[in-house]
Amino acid sequence: MADSSQGPASFWTQANALLRKNLTFQKRNIKANIRLILFPFVLCLLLVLIQGLINRELDKPSNRCGCTCIDNNGDGQCERVCGIQYSTLDQANSCPITSPPEWPPLLQIPAPQYRAVRTDFLSYTDLPNESCKSTGSCPATIIFTGNNQSLGESLAGNMFTSSFTLNSSNIMYTFANNVLGSETQTEYTNFLDPAFFSNRSVYNVQTQCTLNSTFSVSIPIAGSAVEQDLDVRCVQGLHLWRNSSSEINDELYKGFRKGNSEGKINEIIAAYDFLNSNRNNFNVSIWYNSTYKNDTGNGPLALMRIPRSVNLASNAFLQSFLGAPTQMLFEFVKEMPKPETQLRLDLSSLLGPLFFTWVILQLFPVVLTSLVYEKQQNLRIMMKMHGLGDGPYWMISYTYFLFISSIYMLCFVVFGSVIGLKFFTLNEYSIQFVFYFIYINLQISLAFLVAAIFSNVKTAAVIGYIMVFGTGLLGGFLFQFFLQDASFPRGWIIVMELYPGFSLYRGLYEFSQYAFTGNFMGTDGMRWKNLNDGKNGMREILIIMFVEWLVVLFFAYYLDQVVASGSGVRRSPLFFLKKFQKKSMSSFRKPSLQTQGSKVFVEMEKSDVVQEREKVEQLLLEPSTSHAIICDNLKKVYPGMDGNPEKFAVRGMSLALPHGECFGMLGPNGAGKTSFINMMIGLVKPTSGMAYVQGLDIQTHMDGIYANMGVCPQHDLLWETLTGREHLLFYGRLKNLKGVALTQAVEESLKSVNLFHGGVADKQAGKYSGGMKRRLSVAISLIGDPKVVYMDEPSTGLDPASRNNLWSVVKRAKQNRAIILTTHSMEEAEHLCDRLGIFVDGSLQCIGNPKELKARYGGTYVFTMTTSSNH
Ligand SMILES: *[C@@H]1O[C@H](CO)[C@@H](O)[C@H](O)[C@H]1NC(C)=O
Ligand SMILES: *[C@@H]1O[C@H](CO)[C@@H](O)[C@H](O)[C@H]1NC(C)=O
Ligand SMILES: *[C@@H]1O[C@H](CO)[C@@H](O)[C@H](O)[C@H]1NC(C)=O
Ligand SMILES: *[C@@H]1O[C@H](CO)[C@@H](O)[C@H](O)[C@H]1NC(C)=O
Ligand SMILES: *[C@@H]1O[C@H](CO)[C@@H](O)[C@H](O)[C@H]1NC(C)=O
Ligand SMILES: *[C@@H]1O[C@H](CO)[C@@H](O)[C@H](O)[C@H]1NC(C)=O
Repeated sequence: MADSSQGPASFWTQANALLRKNLTFQKRNIKANIRLILFPFVLCLLLVLIQGLINRELDKPSNRCGCTCIDNNGDGQCERVCGIQYSTLDQANSCPITSPPEWPPLLQIPAPQYRAVRTDFLSYTDLPNESCKSTGSCPATIIFTGNNQSLGESLAGNMFTSSFTLNSSNIMYTFANNVLGSETQTEYTNFLDPAFFSNRSVYNVQTQCTLNSTFSVSIPIAGSAVEQDLDVRCVQGLHLWRNSSSEINDELYKGFRKGNSEGKINEIIAAYDFLNSNRNNFNVSIWYNSTYKNDTGNGPLALMRIPRSVNLASNAFLQSFLGAPTQMLFEFVKEMPKPETQLRLDLSSLLGPLFFTWVILQLFPVVLTSLVYEKQQNLRIMMKMHGLGDGPYWMISYTYFLFISSIYMLCFVVFGSVIGLKFFTLNEYSIQFVFYFIYINLQISLAFLVAAIFSNVKTAAVIGYIMVFGTGLLGGFLFQFFLQDASFPRGWIIVMELYPGFSLYRGLYEFSQYAFTGNFMGTDGMRWKNLNDGKNGMREILIIMFVEWLVVLFFAYYLDQVVASGSGVRRSPLFFLKKFQKKSMSSFRKPSLQTQGSKVFVEMEKSDVVQEREKVEQLLLEPSTSHAIICDNLKKVYPGMDGNPEKFAVRGMSLALPHGECFGMLGPNGAGKTSFINMMIGLVKPTSGMAYVQGLDIQTHMDGIYANMGVCPQHDLLWETLTGREHLLFYGRLKNLKGVALTQAVEESLKSVNLFHGGVADKQAGKYSGGMKRRLSVAISLIGDPKVVYMDEPSTGLDPASRNNLWSVVKRAKQNRAIILTTHSMEEAEHLCDRLGIFVDGSLQCIGNPKELKARYGGTYVFTMTTSSNH
């Protein structure tokens, strides 16, 4: 063993040891890492592939500005010209339009079968008879009300002309002078008015229709030379008085087509309330139907057909009071010019939130299982027992996972940007960085918190992945639905966002929305200034996530200290108040009255055990450092469960062990040896009694004790993927060995347990045989020269040769340290131990050196055999 007179390892030494171990561990895990990183790559590639297909579809001629061949000079050579006049409605959207066409302003006229007629659900008798439906000649109706009926009648009566006045030399003027309407539905834009592209659909609204009031006119389409014949059909316009605006409301409500299953459909052109209008005051409110939607098309709003209904009322007002020559002409409507556009659908922005939620959440089970693995395998406590403090553990584990997550996210964003996903390229990278950074921090803290609950890797993994996919799906199909519903209370959305998965989803959703509109409109995605946008939830989730990160981290640490199923003795829930309590534990206590009282019981014990007890009490009164271990009346009682009585695992153990002594504990299974050791190494809390290791109380100063302690647990606690040498290097570093001393100590240690030759030291521990693992565990417990070593049945499962080997190691090791060793083999105990204790039923039956004990009790062996009675 190397000499190590250094003190306990510093914070940074421990951190360094853990970091190196983790990196080696990660190196071994390279395959899993590649799989992990491939997942986003595959998803991104999939997106790009689908995007490519969509783009190909969108780039088809039927989606691009229409072109045609024009033979200008009749020589059969044609010139290709493109433009809106050669386009279909679908194609027109992408054409460059330098000077948009003028269209006559139209009214929205209900289709003949929906026009208002007399029905039994309305009491009005002034509506036309239903029989007109069969001939398609139903009049179109406006209804009106106001404070002054005669004024209303005159205004409404002035709205429609009595005949169609055609001026073929000026067609636009003609249209402006008449009242035209259409039952078609408008497009998003007014570049092309669908009404002029289907023959059936332009109406001229007149007060009376005659047989010859249907005209055919030739109109230039979109201001070009191409003319189109247009049938303008007459429709009679009715105007009907209603007593109040609430009656109008009622009539409109009852006649609504959508959601009206009983065929009670009564649609009108528009409704007017002239309110308090008079000669000096024109005050009108207009009902219009903005829900006309083309369900087969893109569902545009019909607002473009509204200005004409306003103009009708204003014009009627002017004419009523100022006479017929006064006119307010509404000649045409015209869009603003636009450059050529390409139809683009950014799939990554639409599917992004769902896919990317999966990609990012995927890290959660990875971190979680890795934490739970160390807990399940008791590796955390093993590291702790060899001196790894909570501080370095947390710091290194946290930064380590943060590092891994950051690399993962970096790969993800860089890859997504390189293949050109708009989701990444359009949004400002600094916002993305802040968002991802806060989120992965939150996610890691959350994994730490959740890890405190789980103790099984498989359960943790299953729950983790269910969470990943569940969150994505819930986000995509439920949460997003709420987000898009403007009427959904914002407060509830914030409440939902308290669940980190949803705040992640929200953030990705916002990115995708900005990328999508940015791509569609040819502008930027999200910029910092957009954080102030009313609908942008990015700011609120950044705040939520940041606060949550701190809170979760705090609770994770707290829970780790209090629940601590993997990190040793639980602390009291108020452990952090400890500093305020009086410091009284570090000095040896005076024997209490209670111990005096228990003398009665003591008297009945075996004399050597009593002697030991008295020695302990003596030592407690006169502090000295000659003894490495002092146990005073240590007890462990497990509370009775399901009606069983309490179980006394250890009943009052007193023991004093000087340096340089090896104490052997012999006894049958279940005698309480392991319970005793578990108390001494801080795995379980004693029910009562005291124990001091190197003068430090095991109840309060376990951390100090760990720096000088080595443990070889009954079951080997090893990382499957680390080699023997790496194990020893790690624990050696924890014990503050450095540089040459470290390598030397590791070499010696490997040699001493016979793991040096034949490359065994560099094989992964998972491939070791049982005996090799055992020897490695012993080597671990001895590395770094601990002053106190516990070995729980170190030689079980070893062949005689390795056992001898091990014995010589232990023998050499016990020179300047105290060793407590449990065993079943008297031979081993005799060989190794200076003193022996026989441990039966929770207490020591006798203590002495092997020779004494043999002399006292030797010569007889009890041979117990159980057979059935007839043998
Ligand atoms: C109603 O309007 C008519 C026509 O403008 C007007 O002559 C009459 O005085 C108005 N009635 C009232 C009560 O204002
Ligand atoms: C027809 O329109 C032209 C040009 O605007 C105008 O000069 C002419 O007077 C109009 N004719 C009638 C009958 O309104
Ligand atoms: C809706 O749009 C589609 C395609 O754009 C068209 O074929 C259909 O006639 C329109 N329907 C109405 C009622 O305008
Ligand atoms: C409207 O008011 C007039 C006069 O007050 C009344 O005769 C008529 O019945 C009312 N119409 C309805 C539908 O209530
Ligand atoms: C228009 O009518 C509304 C509703 O009756 C009224 O509140 C408002 O004062 C009127 N405006 C004028 C200018 O009379
Ligand atoms: C308004 O338009 C919708 C079509 O989107 C139609 O179903 C409904 O009947 C119309 N309502 C009225 C009162 O005209």
